[in-house]
Amino acid sequence: TSNYETILTETRGRVGWITLNRPEALNALNAQLMHDVVHAATTFDANPAIGAIVVTGSERAFAAGADIKEMESKSGLDMIMDDHFGPWARFAAVRTPVIAAVSGYALGGGCELAMMCDIVLAADTAKFGQPEINLGVIPGMGGTQRLLRAVGYAKAAELVLTGRMMGAEEAERCGLVSRVVAASDLLEEAGKVADTIASKSLPSVYAAKAALDAAMETSLAEGLRFERHAFAPLFDTADQKEGMAAFREKRAPNFGNA
Ligand code: CAA
Repeated sequence: TSNYETILTETRGRVGWITLNRPEALNALNAQLMHDVVHAATTFDANPAIGAIVVTGSERAFAAGADIKEMESKSGLDMIMDDHFGPWARFAAVRTPVIAAVSGYALGGGCELAMMCDIVLAADTAKFGQPEINLGVIPGMGGTQRLLRAVGYAKAAELVLTGRMMGAEEAERCGLVSRVVAASDLLEEAGKVADTIASKSLPSVYAAKAALDAAMETSLAEGLRFERHAFAPLFDTADQKEGMAAFREKRAPNFGNA
């Protein structure tokens, strides 16, 4: 249902789905795929009828990294002048919560793309890693920064310096993924999580994501200040009045966007 070259997109209810679709390259992230994903995600984000986004790949690979064949002959100056991975910042900046549903390989840029998402659900077949060190480079889409924040210094340093892959169980244990599910249930589970988020009040969902993002970037005092300023204006929404009235009346809330 879409005109993209490297991805498939679909809307199911209030959820926008993005499926990476370069099976011949294990969904390696070339420039076209980056532009397709950024365009699809920002288009869903601009649509108030969309309350959550799911990004997924194939059973065999979420994404096996940035496209090595596309990068091989580039110079350092090319990487700078092309701003080779720059547009991914627009993906990371969407206000709508994004769920990564990871099956198979999530390596290099694939792991980094998953980490740009708010929630990572992993199939028991998922394999995460930052193998760039094996190619004579280092992660370039946030791997050294987001992996360290997700799993701490010890695990991040080992993975980035050795290039070792870790399985889904280890990824859950160390905090990279929120939950591991059977591979056959992955898309259904991701859909349930997305539907749940999409049923909430959109202004509160935007505020919650923004406050969580702030926690990654600021001191506790700054973050608490941000949270207070994000919390207060929600009391001016009809959804807050509805949510609290529904609690008092012992019924389910009916938010404006539902
Ligand atoms: N870029 C380009 N093509 C890739 C690719 C990548 N990252 N990963 C896989 N492919 C291609 C392979 O070249 C192969 O194509 P051909 O059939 O035309 O040769 C096809 O996908 C299938 O891959 P394999 O035959 O290698 O499959 P496998 O099952 O034997 O191995 C794998 C799977 C272990 C994931 C292996 O493909 C692999 O190691 N891939 C590269 C992983 C990697 O190094 N990722 C980091 C990339 S750099 C990066 O991401 C930088 C950054 O920080 C943004």
